[in-house]
Amino acid sequence: MNGVYRATVASNIAFLKYWGKRDARLQWPANDSFSMTLSRLCSTTEARPIQASDHRFVFAGQAFSRAEKRFAKTFQQLDDLTQTFGFRDQLEIRTENNFPMGAGIASSASGLAALTLASLAAWLKAPDWQSLAAKGFSLSRIANLARQGSGSAGRSLFGGYVAWRAGDHPEQQTIEPLFPAEHWDLHDTIVLFSKGEKSLSSTEAHAHAWSSPLFRTRLAGLPERLAAMENAMTHCNFEQLGPLLEMEALEMHAVTMTATPSHCYLTSDAWNFLASLREARRRGEVHAYFTIDAGPNIHLIHEASEHEQLKRWLEERFNPQELLHDRVGQGPQLSFLSE
Ligand code: DP6
Repeated sequence: MNGVYRATVASNIAFLKYWGKRDARLQWPANDSFSMTLSRLCSTTEARPIQASDHRFVFAGQAFSRAEKRFAKTFQQLDDLTQTFGFRDQLEIRTENNFPMGAGIASSASGLAALTLASLAAWLKAPDWQSLAAKGFSLSRIANLARQGSGSAGRSLFGGYVAWRAGDHPEQQTIEPLFPAEHWDLHDTIVLFSKGEKSLSSTEAHAHAWSSPLFRTRLAGLPERLAAMENAMTHCNFEQLGPLLEMEALEMHAVTMTATPSHCYLTSDAWNFLASLREARRRGEVHAYFTIDAGPNIHLIHEASEHEQLKRWLEERFNPQELLHDRVGQGPQLSFLSE
């Protein structure tokens, strides 16, 4: 079927971080991870088969060639899928994010997930989930392919709360939803301390993690933390979840700061903000806990009932354009527009 295959995929925020790879070529993570798929912060990617000698790639209305370093993963993913499945068509890919790229809100997660979904749909001429599944491409399989493009992308293929298990062998990896979005309406309000590109790509930071003296200790303690997190999630116990979120984020950043070369993603403003958040929480003014990905922005996880109060508290300190409001989401959408 000729036409445009459109995928809209939301970003996700890791509660338990994927940090470090056991095998970079096979995208085999050092540990299991667990995340919440968001609802509003999305990448929308359209794929359309074209007559041309190479793929055409357009990001936010501007065309980019293979030589553009920041889209290396995009072209690599198209090449890997072509090679794995022997697809013949070249594709025109048009994509946009509704949030700043490379600012620590995982544009590679939603971007690579949307790219994988839209391009597979276009190559297979599958306009909906049913026809993808009928051609052997279940959601789990697509998630596994997206994970090869960028690890965290695999988790964005499912809505709600999603686990990526490393398994004992690279082929045993699984990505599966643990709880649907309806299980617990958690919100993520993001304070943007920088809208620029992140200072060190997560792919590079994964490689450096092994050099930190803290890293092996971290890995040894993670199964227990994941079990505690899953328990908190099962019982919707925010008092149990919140401190685990903060410990996990701080540990990931401690690994990065103690690696060789050492790196710190947070700015002094962001560190100061964490101190004021803790103080406000102690005084009972806000009821939110932070987590932080590979960038300087702070994600404030909170229950739906706390959102208005937190929003007011933040708006006294930040401009509205420095705040992004999101919550747990339902997962990707796929549609077909005939020409
Ligand atoms: C901090 O998925 O961006 O967001 O697989 O090399 O593309 P690559 O890395 P990426 O790493 C994400 C790291 C993180 C934590 C997480 O999402 O689990």
